[in-house]
Amino acid sequence: MDPSIVNYDPAMDEEVAVLLNEAWARLRAMRNIYVKESPWPMVDSGLLARWREQGRLSADGTFIAQAADGSKAAIFSVSAGDEGRGTLHFFGAHPGHSGHGHGSRTLAVAEEYLRSRGMRQVVTERVDSRCPIVNGFLRKSGFEVPDLDQQSIIMLMGPQGRVVRPVTLPDDGYRIATWDDDYLDDWVSIRNIAFEESTDATLFLEHFRNRKDFDPEAWFFVQHRDRPVGIAGALERRNPDGSHRGGQVEWVAVLPEYRGKGLGEALAATVLNRFVQRDVKPVALITQSFRHAAVTMYEKLGFRTIAQLLHYRKNL
Ligand SMILES: CC(C)(COP(=O)(O)OP(=O)(O)OC[C@H]1O[C@@H](n2cnc3c(N)ncnc32)[C@H](O)[C@@H]1OP(=O)(O)O)[C@@H](O)C(=O)NCCC(=O)NCCS
Repeated sequence: MDPSIVNYDPAMDEEVAVLLNEAWARLRAMRNIYVKESPWPMVDSGLLARWREQGRLSADGTFIAQAADGSKAAIFSVSAGDEGRGTLHFFGAHPGHSGHGHGSRTLAVAEEYLRSRGMRQVVTERVDSRCPIVNGFLRKSGFEVPDLDQQSIIMLMGPQGRVVRPVTLPDDGYRIATWDDDYLDDWVSIRNIAFEESTDATLFLEHFRNRKDFDPEAWFFVQHRDRPVGIAGALERRNPDGSHRGGQVEWVAVLPEYRGKGLGEALAATVLNRFVQRDVKPVALITQSFRHAAVTMYEKLGFRTIAQLLHYRKNL
């Protein structure tokens, strides 16, 4: 292995935190559009310990380039996965050491490690399309985004969308209801049918229901004669100091046989009204380009696409 590249060791945590915080400062300077976790959080030893538990950081899969003076110049963290596909979790290069090829050499070592573990392909975690340096580096290094339509996009509500809207439902037995634990199975079933998935309640329980800040008044159903036929959530997140971090429109879906009647728009309007009334901003959502009905609906309501979240791929 290139002698200037070493494996990560928890004893390096302090230097790794400095390296990542310096490397990501430019990215953090972009407009923050992340209501949930930022892809570039402030790194400290507590966060690095969490990443170790999650397998995002490890002694064998995380590689660090050291400059001639011994300081840490670049970091790449990968892990081997199933079906010959590894993951590039995160990477960064210290701006003070740019232009010396540290990034390319460290990536090459990480790729060699994945090959030695039988991996035939490496896929990145989501990469924000707004940063030309990061995206340019990946493309120059042989990474591609093969199915652009399947990738996620972040849409943001513009100021013109911050109005209270009428919520209009067809008049034969439709109404909006808020969360009740008895509806958990209906929520899972509507989500699975609408998004063509087959998962259980774990996602909802772990990410929403079992959190201390779960608010049943923020999760909506549209019911037809007491049967839930559509869902939507108005997720709010706060900063540690209690200030609003923003709102995210979550899991808007209508059963296929009930589409085209204005129910999706009524649900989305209910969510947006709640954000406006509670003065929550920014208001964001994540969807995928191929969901044309959803993207058209959100554009009609005042959302604009701000960034793509790209999973780059490279054959090894
Ligand atoms: C997106 C979805 C919720 C829309 O629900 P819906 O009840 O059929 O939508 P509505 O009848 O309220 O239509 C509202 C607007 O959405 C857009 N829209 C709805 N269906 C559309 C379609 N098939 N093609 C293009 N635009 C469409 C239109 O702008 C429409 O307004 P208009 O009637 O004035 O033209 C529904 O298609 C769905 O559940 N899709 C699968 C899950 C999904 O993609 N969820 C969003 C991901 S975050």
